[in-house]
Amino acid sequence: MTIRAKIVGTGSFVPEKVLTNKDLEQIIDTSDEWITTRTGIRQRHIAREGENNSDLAIKAARSALEMASIGPEALDLIIVGTLTPDMPMPSVACLVQSGLGATKAGAMDLSATCSGFLYSLSVADKFIRCSPQMKILVIGSEVLSRRTNWQDRTTCVLFADGAGAAVVTGSEGENGIVSTHLHADGSLWELLTIRGLGTAFPVEQSILDKGWQYIEMQGRDVFKHAVKALESVAFEALEASGWKMEDIDLLIAHQANIRILEFLRDRLALPEDKVFINIHKYGNTSAASIPIALDEANRQGRLRPGDKVLMISFGGGFTWAGVTMVW
Ligand code: ACO
Repeated sequence: MTIRAKIVGTGSFVPEKVLTNKDLEQIIDTSDEWITTRTGIRQRHIAREGENNSDLAIKAARSALEMASIGPEALDLIIVGTLTPDMPMPSVACLVQSGLGATKAGAMDLSATCSGFLYSLSVADKFIRCSPQMKILVIGSEVLSRRTNWQDRTTCVLFADGAGAAVVTGSEGENGIVSTHLHADGSLWELLTIRGLGTAFPVEQSILDKGWQYIEMQGRDVFKHAVKALESVAFEALEASGWKMEDIDLLIAHQANIRILEFLRDRLALPEDKVFINIHKYGNTSAASIPIALDEANRQGRLRPGDKVLMISFGGGFTWAGVTMVW
């Protein structure tokens, strides 16, 4: 008898405030045309003052729990993938635990940048392989707008805010997670980093003056590494699952840049309708991008029971990951 970790509910939430490319034209020297052709992004959602990562995460979680028909008190564990927690202490997961009233759940954050959701889902998968009765809430949630330098046109057009969530539990049969693949290369950390406001470069005027509280990115280098890693982890996950590329019903890749998604579509020889794209609406929401896409695909009816789904991500660290699942 096969028991797999199955996603039984998805949810997502983005802040109400929308920032369009036209709005950005008023702030920095850029154009709607440049942003759209280079990134595919047309608009993004930005948290209002006082709206925090945990607020977005709780709203996404409630929606996922409602779909799963599971009450928060039934949860055993909450894992939040994020690089922009409300505070260093407590974790976002603890704030979600108390916000939901998940009285018996353990709670932890997982730091793997844009791979945060797939890393967290992999951890949930391993727990459920040992204890299939567990009910685990997996979230990816970010408020990147507060770590974005709004004067730096090379990064501020890309990053945005949002949250996505999935409820995972053990299920008999073929439906659920088939294989998970995690990778990292810390030697390349400087290509995509927020150097400051950790313990290495704490809050000091000299650090703030250098802008080290913000995202720094060598865009072209990141692009090159991202496409190579994403392609390789996609084939690795397929091979481990015993699947061929033509078996895939839907690819949900981290929504980093339309050019990366189009490059992957070509390299993996997937038709357009098998590659989920929503970057035009949300920008790059890091750990939140895959669970937001998953929830949208689910609610749009693009996932049918038995569908073979491949999810792949790449982010700062570097980290990259792949997960295959039968829906
Ligand atoms: N508006 C107008 N012009 C701009 C802007 C802007 N917002 N940003 C840069 N430019 C200019 C540059 O100054 C440069 O001008 P120059 O030729 O006069 O010097 C020109 O456009 C080209 O700049 P490049 O940086 O070479 O532009 P590129 O074609 O590489 O596109 C981009 C930049 C979109 C960032 C691209 O490198 C990219 O997508 N990289 C991958 C980034 C990514 O996906 N990161 C996230 C992955 S991991 C994660 O999600 C955290």
